[in-house]
Amino acid sequence: MAEAGVILAAEGVIKRFNALIVLDRVDFRVGAAEAVGIVGPNGAGKTTLLNVLAGAFKPSAGTVRFRGAEVTDAGAAERCRLGIARSHQVPRPFGAMTVFENVLVAATTGGGFGGEAAYERCIDSLQLCGMLRLANRRAETLGLLDRKRLELARALATDPVVLLLDEIGGGLTDAEAGEMVATILELRGRQLAIVWIEHIVHVLLQVVDRLVCMNAGRVIADGAPRAVMADAAVIDAYLGGGVA
Ligand SMILES: Nc1ncnc2c1ncn2[C@@H]1O[C@H](COP(=O)(O)OP(=O)(O)O)[C@@H](O)[C@H]1O
Ligand SMILES: [Mg+2]
Repeated sequence: MAEAGVILAAEGVIKRFNALIVLDRVDFRVGAAEAVGIVGPNGAGKTTLLNVLAGAFKPSAGTVRFRGAEVTDAGAAERCRLGIARSHQVPRPFGAMTVFENVLVAATTGGGFGGEAAYERCIDSLQLCGMLRLANRRAETLGLLDRKRLELARALATDPVVLLLDEIGGGLTDAEAGEMVATILELRGRQLAIVWIEHIVHVLLQVVDRLVCMNAGRVIADGAPRAVMADAAVIDAYLGGGVA
């Protein structure tokens, strides 16, 4: 049975790469239409957790549930069809294709849209991300902000229920990160569940309901954002990890 309101959950997840334990019994959940932030020093396992949630990695142990059903063995393409979409920490567009073509691949292959519905989905996603004016540009000509916007547009084109964002604000100027926040706040209005990994905590705090802090493969705090940021173990993890 699904825990009331929980849409996507990792339970007791362990991820090993050979001898290295990268996720160590991680429990994580996000509710329908909830926005959860994930922080933690470099190497904490944040991206690995996102990969496990998105189906890019199969956990060594533990389960992943979506809407109460186990999806641990479902790959990324299948989970995308179910409604789990993600952006990559390092944007990976098809460089030689246009912005529109990139989003169209996501809408058709990832979202299962066809014909006119696929085009409408693309236009809507591009508009929301402020990318419509760049629809005919080749993706490899885009700067960092527009690459990040394209990552988001591609994820949105699949019509997700849960959006997993990996440092979508990383490397952006304050003004650019502010624009990204405005876009993501608009998505919140569309009742999407959002999991957002971000180093820029003040940006994250403008959006999330709950904050999770990871360190060395474990969840060390989970709760109200300001309480988590004030938690002694969290402060320790940041000072110990040397991350600003
Ligand atoms: N494919 C992989 N093979 C081996 N080690 C990996 C792999 N992916 C991540 N790791 C290791 O897992 C740890 C956590 O990485 P990651 O999840 O990227 O951390 P974060 O996103 O919090 O910075 C790091 O020590 C990293 O080197
Ligand atoms: Mg990462």
